[in-house]
Amino acid sequence: MKTIQVSRFGGPEVLVLLDGPAIAPEAGQISIAVEAVGVGFVDVMARQGTYPLFPEPGFVPGVEVAGTVDEVGPDVDANWRGRRVFAVCGVGGYAERVVIDLVKVVPLPDKLSAGQAVGTGVNALVASFALERTGADAGEHVLVRGASGGIGVMATQLAARKGCVVMAVTSSASRADRLRALGATRTILRGTGEDTVAGAYDVVVDTVGGSDMGRFLTMLKPNGRYVLCGGAGGPPPADLLARLFAEFHKSPSLMCFSLNSIDDDHRRPVADELFRLTAEGSIEAVIDEGLRLDQAAEAHRRMAAGDLFGKIVLRP
Ligand SMILES: NC(=O)c1ccc[n+]([C@@H]2O[C@H](COP(=O)([O-])OP(=O)(O)OC[C@H]3O[C@@H](n4cnc5c(N)ncnc54)[C@H](OP(=O)(O)O)[C@@H]3O)[C@@H](O)[C@H]2O)c1
Repeated sequence: MKTIQVSRFGGPEVLVLLDGPAIAPEAGQISIAVEAVGVGFVDVMARQGTYPLFPEPGFVPGVEVAGTVDEVGPDVDANWRGRRVFAVCGVGGYAERVVIDLVKVVPLPDKLSAGQAVGTGVNALVASFALERTGADAGEHVLVRGASGGIGVMATQLAARKGCVVMAVTSSASRADRLRALGATRTILRGTGEDTVAGAYDVVVDTVGGSDMGRFLTMLKPNGRYVLCGGAGGPPPADLLARLFAEFHKSPSLMCFSLNSIDDDHRRPVADELFRLTAEGSIEAVIDEGLRLDQAAEAHRRMAAGDLFGKIVLRP
């Protein structure tokens, strides 16, 4: 069984292709013959050693996979064999096969490809739960930072579907065009100074964080809600709480959202619904590129350079 391992913390070159024996599923587990692996920015951080929840080098990265069940554990219903499924595995996804607890598995609708499943997967789950936390409602103004990224394209689409007025922040005119086609009402090119409207948004969905985050906090209207669900631009600035306090008169809410805080039973029905939306064409699984498993380093180079729109998918 081929896997990609992080041999040591470092650049994309530390990702090495290994060939080893496949593992059999135990009680409560199934094995998935992987057809698509979702690559996320979190994989880049895991490889660099900057994401605390990942193990020491020698691990196989990859938080989400889709494919077909090819073996079941001794106590698992044999009817699972041959079913097409998606799973959030946390680690171990860059592989030809993944053995995983059945509770983490979501069956896929017939019309949904494995690529579409991971193109929806974690990104849409994060976007959906984050929006739910903010209580974003029809007619409200929602700003999405990192809108052209995997999570951002889903947050843009899901907020538009709710009837929100969506402002998408991105880095180029061509990306802005694509975001408007996905439902953004307006777009802002970051770094051009056109994004400095204070007090304009009910909700900010932020996948970027970084030193600029305090400025985006001031863009909330009174009673606005800001959800930080990523750090593609690095950690927030040290004076963030002081910036929040300066906005006290507006009663702003600042929250974080991590999918790690959601248990399997809570996640599965939401994933089910998101896959249904993609299968019926109500949202689009935006795939930037499909690469082979042994091109994982190339995928990471593109992720780190921000050179993508949507999701990169590896195909074992
Ligand atoms: N909350 C969770 O449970 C969860 C789950 C998975 C991932 N994450 C995290 O969420 C973040 C985004 O993940 P992703 O997979 O969507 O990443 P991604 O696909 O790389 O997208 C991030 C986007 O942010 C923009 N960006 C990057 N660096 C920036 C900077 N310095 N300043 C401003 N904008 C910048 C880029 O778009 P433009 O160039 O077009 O602006 C980029 O496309 C990562 O930190 C990841 O670890 C969180």
